[in-house]
Amino acid sequence: MKIQNVCCIGAGYVGGPTMAVLALKNPDIKITVVDINKVRIAAWNDSDFNNLPIYEPGLKEVVQEARGRNLFFSTDVEKAIDEAEMIFISVNTPTKTYGKGKGMAADLKYIELSARQIAKVATTDKIVVEKSTLPVRTAQAIKNILDHTGNGVKFQILSNPEFLAEGTAVQDLLNPDRVLIGGEESEDGKEAIEALVNIYATWISREKILTTNVWSSELSKLVANAFLAQRVSSINAISELCEVTGADVSEVSKAIGMDSRIGPKFLQASVGFGGSCFQKDILNLVYIAKSYGLNEVADYWEQVIIMNDHQKNRFAENIVSKLYNTVSGKKITFFGWAFKKDTNDTRESAAIYVADALLDEQAEITVYDPKVSEERIYADLDYLNTRSPEENRRLVKIVNDPYIACQNAHAIAILTEWDEFKEFNWHKIYSSVIKPAFVFDGRKVLDGRTMKQLGFQYTAIGVSIFNSTS
Ligand SMILES: NC(=O)c1ccc[n+]([C@@H]2O[C@H](COP(=O)([O-])OP(=O)(O)OC[C@H]3O[C@@H](n4cnc5c(N)ncnc54)[C@H](O)[C@@H]3O)[C@@H](O)[C@H]2O)c1
Repeated sequence: MKIQNVCCIGAGYVGGPTMAVLALKNPDIKITVVDINKVRIAAWNDSDFNNLPIYEPGLKEVVQEARGRNLFFSTDVEKAIDEAEMIFISVNTPTKTYGKGKGMAADLKYIELSARQIAKVATTDKIVVEKSTLPVRTAQAIKNILDHTGNGVKFQILSNPEFLAEGTAVQDLLNPDRVLIGGEESEDGKEAIEALVNIYATWISREKILTTNVWSSELSKLVANAFLAQRVSSINAISELCEVTGADVSEVSKAIGMDSRIGPKFLQASVGFGGSCFQKDILNLVYIAKSYGLNEVADYWEQVIIMNDHQKNRFAENIVSKLYNTVSGKKITFFGWAFKKDTNDTRESAAIYVADALLDEQAEITVYDPKVSEERIYADLDYLNTRSPEENRRLVKIVNDPYIACQNAHAIAILTEWDEFKEFNWHKIYSSVIKPAFVFDGRKVLDGRTMKQLGFQYTAIGVSIFNSTS
């Protein structure tokens, strides 16, 4: 079966970049990305490509080439569903904030709404592709809704989880380690799988396209994120041990990472992982394990989250203790708010929680981040509901000049590993801050020796206080 018309529900961090690359590589397929968020769609259609709603290196160029040719962004969800032979569901699946499974299970209401809308509109057979990250066996629920509320047309459900990482989304999509497609083992299922394989095969070699049953595919995505996050929590646990023993976590990380059985990736100690996926996907895995009565399995994975929370807390506590046990009324400058470099996404960013802990101690915070907007930062703090929006605006200032951000600061905390921080004139910064000049490097982006030579009291995650050379 040759697909000519594709629709994607959800124009977010996954739907937007994924469909842009799919359109770039398949100029003969019409791809329409739809969303109920009018502002987001308007931004995707903005004539100035610098105003796209998502910042990713290389994304602007891809959208520039494909938009208007075979890539379209629209709020007309029903029309796009009706026209498409293949529909990707790429809506958000956040952690539930209410009812059964609150704080753990994935909230599937947007998935269910999408499935119901497809069922209502479809008058021809459709292949429905789960692009969102979903609990294992969700395809069954989607199929139930489609088969029982549809117009008698046939649906095939595929699972095609997305492995892109924000910040490198375009590169990851152009050159993925693998593409995973799960489908039914029936003849119709095989045909649907083949239709999707053909779309990817226009630029990805077939050996890298894995096909499995639906449940393996759904579960693999959760497990991949759990394994990645586990490595971060593992090295972060060791970073604390380094600090009290005189070992240096970068040296330990290099030494163990050169073991080919372990490998160097995801062994970078930091203030803790953030992002929209790791925490929610592990919590989801924990919830699934619990719901099958597998309590030891659940506890094992939950510890990854506990360790991550601990890492964020102890970073904030360390700032307070180094500043003579009080930050009340003191100005702390944050370099970075995004959960990692090269993205404007701030979901679950460590910066939010470190800020919250310091605000509890009555600190005043000034934030500089090259890509995150002022509205986003206030929205993140307001969402916590720890204090009133007015108080957040009184205690937190956002500036777009890093040198102004540092003036009269009692301490500088680095929360995101933006490359530009390395290039700052730290000598100039030193002269404008209150002495002693404290820098807390939560991402290990700066050179400790140079910072100390400049006069800073420099502390980095995983570097021992006994170790004066780095
Ligand atoms: N962000 C990542 O790095 C990443 C990576 C891999 C997988 N995922 C998974 O992909 C999914 C989407 O993540 P995201 O980061 O793109 O989320 P997102 O919040 O950026 O985007 C989701 C979009 O879906 C839209 N939407 C929700 N319900 C809708 C409906 N009924 N009709 C039309 N539009 C609707 C929302 O308005 C929003 O714009 C999640 O399941 C996530 O776990 C995310």
